[in-house]
Amino acid sequence: MRILLIGAGGTLGTAVRTALTARGHQVVTVGRTSGDLRHDLTEPEQIAAMYAAAGELDAVVGAAGDTPFKPLPELTGPEWTAAFRGKVLSQLELVRQGTGRISPRGSFTLISGVLARSPIPTGAAASMANGAVEAFVRAAAIEIAPQRINAVSPTVFTESLGDYGDYFPGFRPVPPAEVAQAYIRSVEGGQTGQVYTLD
Ligand SMILES: NC(=O)c1ccc[n+]([C@@H]2O[C@H](COP(=O)([O-])OP(=O)(O)OC[C@H]3O[C@@H](n4cnc5c(N)ncnc54)[C@H](OP(=O)(O)O)[C@@H]3O)[C@@H](O)[C@H]2O)c1
Repeated sequence: MRILLIGAGGTLGTAVRTALTARGHQVVTVGRTSGDLRHDLTEPEQIAAMYAAAGELDAVVGAAGDTPFKPLPELTGPEWTAAFRGKVLSQLELVRQGTGRISPRGSFTLISGVLARSPIPTGAAASMANGAVEAFVRAAAIEIAPQRINAVSPTVFTESLGDYGDYFPGFRPVPPAEVAQAYIRSVEGGQTGQVYTLD
């Protein structure tokens, strides 16, 4: 398959790229500062430009989306909006604009995260964003068939423990290579409307 991978240069994206390539897929990589295509997915017009440049696609895979981490009373309106734009709106637009761009039985795989179901202090904006992504996936699945859509919802990565480990006491981390297998399951399998959890 020819697959568009958003965030291919990141911790997760690197593992997803490796897994997809090992399965024989052709991967077109996207990032703001690295990749075959350079676009900022928080800008809907940038998503349109990305699809115009990408050519024919069988699947779109998301492995990017930033949210701020702060104590709840300190989160400002612009920061809530940034969380929504950075992780939710970017991925919603990826799907909304992408249905006409991928093959008739193609698929979308979005990224959410453990905070949708298991919150931590300072993680309210991320929980909101991840929950929204997962609700959207379930809703979109019934509208875009026979195209498919799933979300991958991992806990903290082993590679990220140095940066975020203190925020996830008692959480068992997951290697990104294991998370990448959930992407393989989504892209190559037949399921839709699923949230693949890795706790
Ligand atoms: N790290 C964890 O432990 C963990 C656990 C569960 C879920 N997640 C989720 O997994 C996703 C990836 O996390 P990660 O740790 O792999 O992040 P990362 O290492 O920071 O990588 C993110 C990648 O996405 C690209 N990117 C970021 N914003 C973008 C945008 N607006 N448009 C286009 N490309 C963009 C970045 O490249 P450029 O800077 O060049 O754009 C980078 O290649 C995030 O949504 C995160 O919430 C992470």
